[in-house]
Amino acid sequence: MTLDHELLDLINLDDFEAAAKSSLTRIAYDYYASGSDDEITLVENRNAYSRLRVAFRVLRDVTTRDLRTTVLGHELSMPVLAAPTAFHRLANPDGELATARAASTAGSLMILSTLSTYSLEEVTSVATCPVWFQLYVYKDRGATAALVRRAEAAGCTALVLTVDAQIWGRRERDIRNRFHLPGGVRVKNLLGREGEDLPKEAADSGLGAYVQSLFDPSLSWKDIEWLASLSDLPVVLKGIVHPDDACLALSHGAQAVVVSNHGGRQLDTSVPTIEALPEVLDAVGDRMEVLVDGGIRRGTDVLKALALGARAVAIGRPVLWGLATAGQAGVERVFDLLRDELDRALGLAGARSPGELDRSILRRS
Ligand code: FNR
Ligand code: LAC
Repeated sequence: MTLDHELLDLINLDDFEAAAKSSLTRIAYDYYASGSDDEITLVENRNAYSRLRVAFRVLRDVTTRDLRTTVLGHELSMPVLAAPTAFHRLANPDGELATARAASTAGSLMILSTLSTYSLEEVTSVATCPVWFQLYVYKDRGATAALVRRAEAAGCTALVLTVDAQIWGRRERDIRNRFHLPGGVRVKNLLGREGEDLPKEAADSGLGAYVQSLFDPSLSWKDIEWLASLSDLPVVLKGIVHPDDACLALSHGAQAVVVSNHGGRQLDTSVPTIEALPEVLDAVGDRMEVLVDGGIRRGTDVLKALALGARAVAIGRPVLWGLATAGQAGVERVFDLLRDELDRALGLAGARSPGELDRSILRRS
């Protein structure tokens, strides 16, 4: 556990990755950090933000800035959510409970993974922030339907269907490490059912083998209607990069989409999300809320996504780095650092709120 003063020595999100790397096992760090194949998209998600420049505006009284925004009707202190990431107990014994508490303190929102190491009921019982449930569709549609009903009963306020992972990305570090879950860490939402643990005897990634045997690759647009019939929860589709799919999401009743390439962990050389975002926004941005994730590490990254028209952004790995470094306090500091950076970037760009940003200040380098 990092003491407060050591925590204050970590002054940006990359500092947290370095600190987390020294506290995580190699298997856990590699699982969290890795992308698929040559990790081109993993790197390009970050580089694409660096290729965007800001033509800032001046002489606008920026004494007071207000970062608050709403996402699907939830008021958030800032347009930054916690993206769904699996297996938080690899980072800290309090796992997703610590993440939920930190997202609550931050006035943010947590998207909880199906593959969480505390159950959705345990997480919603400690969260005071909105919790959305991220769903993977299992071949066992009965188990999937039960997850949806449990999420609604537990107070989750949206269903986030991940649509870019019906087949598993080839994470070579996990293959080399023969990734598996350590003793006592389980997929707590599937306790007592098939899917509670990763296969131990996998010749490569236990998670790859798990997904291959249990996730349903037949998922298609007709299933969105089935999913919507299971609960009254709004459906969000995560893993959209093509504008035509954003239009299909809209016509099939999705309330929002997350422009995402799974943090570069699925199809390598897929388009960086900040470069996919404008086309998706042009296709549906005036008719549904559009979020974006992937490679967001600086307040200026958030500024650029908002200027393009995103409603909010989501961060994945930085939450894990905070969790691994100092549990709930570490995740809280990650949110605080990003908030401070966004506040500063907003003022320096000549804006007092996300609503005052638009594409006119963006330039491609
Ligand atoms: C993920 N991601 C993910 N997505 C999802 O829909 N369900 C999941 O269970 C997970 N699990 C997961 C684990 C780990 C270790 C990572 C790094 C990512 C993808 C995640 O929601 C998000 O799309 C990316 O992480 C965003 O990119 P950054 O912020 O990590 O660069
Ligand atoms: C991953 C999954 C769990 O990217 O979405 O590891």
